[in-house]
Amino acid sequence: MGFLKSWPAALVGLLMGTETVAFNAPPSVPAWCGKPYMSSNHSLDPGGQFQFPTPQANPLLYVAIQPRYSIFLESDESGSFIVDATISHIFGQSYKNVSYDTPGQEAGNPFTTMDYEIYSEESGSLLVSNSVPVNSTGNLIGFSFSTFQARTQPYTISIYGTSPDGQQTYTASTEIYILPSRTSGSAVKIDNLYGGLYVQNAFNNWKGWYAIFPNGYYADGGYVTPSNFSLSGLDTYASQGFNTINIVPDGGLPDQSYPVASLAQYWDRMDELNLFNIYDMRFAFMNSTRISEQVALWENRTTLLMWYTADEPDGWMYALNSTKLAYDQLRELDPYHPVSLVLNCQNFFYSDYASGADIIFEDAYPVAINATWSIPWGTPCNLTYGDCGCDNCVGDLEDVSTRLDDIQTYQANLPGQISKPTWSVIQAFGEQDYWKSIPSVAEVENMMMLSVNHNAKGITYWIYPSTNDVNVGSGELGKVFQSASAMAFIFGTNAIKGLPVQGEPLVDASAWIVGTQMMIGVASGEYVDFSSQVTIMLPEAAVSVTEVLYGSSSWSVSGNTLTTMGLKGLEVDVLVLNLS
Ligand SMILES: *[C@@H]1O[C@H](CO)[C@@H](O)[C@H](O)[C@H]1NC(C)=O
Ligand SMILES: *[C@@H]1O[C@H](CO)[C@@H](O)[C@H](O)[C@H]1NC(C)=O
Ligand SMILES: *[C@@H]1O[C@H](CO)[C@@H](O)[C@H](O)[C@H]1NC(C)=O
Ligand SMILES: *[C@@H]1O[C@H](CO)[C@@H](O)[C@H](O)[C@H]1NC(C)=O
Ligand SMILES: *[C@@H]1O[C@H](CO)[C@@H](O)[C@H](O)[C@H]1NC(C)=O
Ligand SMILES: *[C@@H]1O[C@H](CO)[C@@H](O)[C@H](O)[C@H]1NC(C)=O
Ligand SMILES: *[C@@H]1O[C@H](CO)[C@@H](O)[C@H](O)[C@H]1NC(C)=O
Ligand SMILES: *[C@@H]1O[C@H](CO)[C@@H](O)[C@H](O)[C@H]1NC(C)=O
Ligand SMILES: *[C@@H]1O[C@H](CO)[C@@H](O)[C@H](O)[C@H]1NC(C)=O
Repeated sequence: MGFLKSWPAALVGLLMGTETVAFNAPPSVPAWCGKPYMSSNHSLDPGGQFQFPTPQANPLLYVAIQPRYSIFLESDESGSFIVDATISHIFGQSYKNVSYDTPGQEAGNPFTTMDYEIYSEESGSLLVSNSVPVNSTGNLIGFSFSTFQARTQPYTISIYGTSPDGQQTYTASTEIYILPSRTSGSAVKIDNLYGGLYVQNAFNNWKGWYAIFPNGYYADGGYVTPSNFSLSGLDTYASQGFNTINIVPDGGLPDQSYPVASLAQYWDRMDELNLFNIYDMRFAFMNSTRISEQVALWENRTTLLMWYTADEPDGWMYALNSTKLAYDQLRELDPYHPVSLVLNCQNFFYSDYASGADIIFEDAYPVAINATWSIPWGTPCNLTYGDCGCDNCVGDLEDVSTRLDDIQTYQANLPGQISKPTWSVIQAFGEQDYWKSIPSVAEVENMMMLSVNHNAKGITYWIYPSTNDVNVGSGELGKVFQSASAMAFIFGTNAIKGLPVQGEPLVDASAWIVGTQMMIGVASGEYVDFSSQVTIMLPEAAVSVTEVLYGSSSWSVSGNTLTTMGLKGLEVDVLVLNLS
């Protein structure tokens, strides 16, 4: 967000909540992401750096189980689990590649398939028994709801794996929700395999689920929900193609949220438009009474997409338990909707803050900053000092994709194999504090493509209205990502990132392979047009470009290569190739 430290000190102090001893910066030293930012203070190690587990020499077998979706509804009638049985040097239980399952055969057989049984702990019912290959991931295993009663509390599920001879054993568990079916409001589920969001609400008459690729802004309430009631701002916003909105609440109100009667009127319009609200509790989420009150007001809105709690809790250095406390309360009050938050720091208590959300946003704002010298505070910026508006950034558009990669790497190195979708918040503001100018539409679209290329499963922006060009362009490219053609790839698999590119080092390209087709996303980081040949090395041979979803139609395919002559400055292309 863009409010950085432009608030009155008293309000900031209030919002910071309880100061904890967890931080290295003492309370008298104003800090952001744990780093002192005033020239009157010295640099110090902010602490809170992610602790990567130490790899072990011997292989482990890491068995993990998750529900395919964050929630099931009784009306789904059946569900599925995702089972991984990975050879890991970080997590898991000891593994020897031998199984003495053939009597009399002294040398034994290789241990290449793991037998397993999956139980519901509460009833003791056996749900499934079968086997999976050792070192396989993403095994989808169906189960019936027959032994479950729909309810709002989760069920604990465990998997027990063994080598064929029964000598080596593995266990893991998870929780699943099988919720009462809905006839009002909305239910929103996360695909734990590929990160997409699926909705059931009035729009599909509560029958089944439809995918949505969220693309929308944090919006200025004074514009989209003015106090002198007018729908024109909101209607203009929706007509530009956005399918989600986060209306920024007013921290100055007694309940630190929205004027209730007024929001209800605007929300009626959002229901008519099927424009999804990411309900923002940034000022209220550290007060459990406010959480309960606000959930009770809005939980049954048909266009409630999810709850949004902390806005840059790591930057503000909120209590480390603050996001998880809010999360647990929200889970209890309303299991039908995911919880999201945005992290601003590159590496500051990730596991604590991220434990409080299902979906993690990043908001690296790299455009028109000075990444090494703090413009408002007049200090250097580095790993231990200073605030340059984009934590540990280099000041390139790629800071956005690098930050997504960082978060995904941290998450993958936490035990428990809990995947969390990542989204980005893209800079659509400037001419203030750290950011000398507002990004151009080309820069914004480039950051959108970089985000999707690096597995962002939703996009938001700070803040609407931006320039007219940026509003229109982000809506247009967003419509491409929302299209059924693109979503089949983005929600149908994960991106193969960082395809090798010859001829232009600053081109970022990713591939998504689904069935007999491959989508390619291209973002050129070069600000000027150039005319030399660019070749992208494909992860699989293709035969033709069948569809240009966005950008240039000058690419041609030959086997494992995709080639064009020259690219426009910051060009963005989205292509679909046929593989055979
Ligand atoms: C959360 O952390 C704060 C600050 O460290 C502490 O005062 C508080 O007791 C903690 N709350 C709970 C419920 O653990
Ligand atoms: C940090 O700077 C603030 C503001 O100038 C000052 O009040 C405080 O004493 C300084 N603290 C230290 C430890 O230098
Ligand atoms: C186990 O041994 C078999 C036979 O040598 C081999 O094919 C397989 O790759 C090994 N598996 C692992 C996970 O080491
Ligand atoms: C396990 O699978 C991974 C990913 O496919 C592969 O890189 C690795 O070599 C495999 N390990 C063994 C021991 O087969
Ligand atoms: C509402 O207020 C805004 C900002 O003060 C103004 O631009 C707009 O014209 C007003 N709309 C109506 C319908 O009065
Ligand atoms: C929490 O919110 C309630 C309801 O708005 C308010 O009465 C109470 O004073 C708040 N508590 C704190 C500690 O701010
Ligand atoms: C929302 O709907 C659910 C299910 O119909 C109901 O149990 C709950 O009381 C409703 N919440 C409010 C605040 O009306
Ligand atoms: C950043 O600020 C420093 C100090 O004023 C200056 O030397 C440097 O050229 C600036 N860099 C950019 C990219 O503006
Ligand atoms: C960061 O800059 C400060 C001020 O110049 C310096 O004292 C400190 O050593 C630097 N930290 C690192 C990690 O370079």
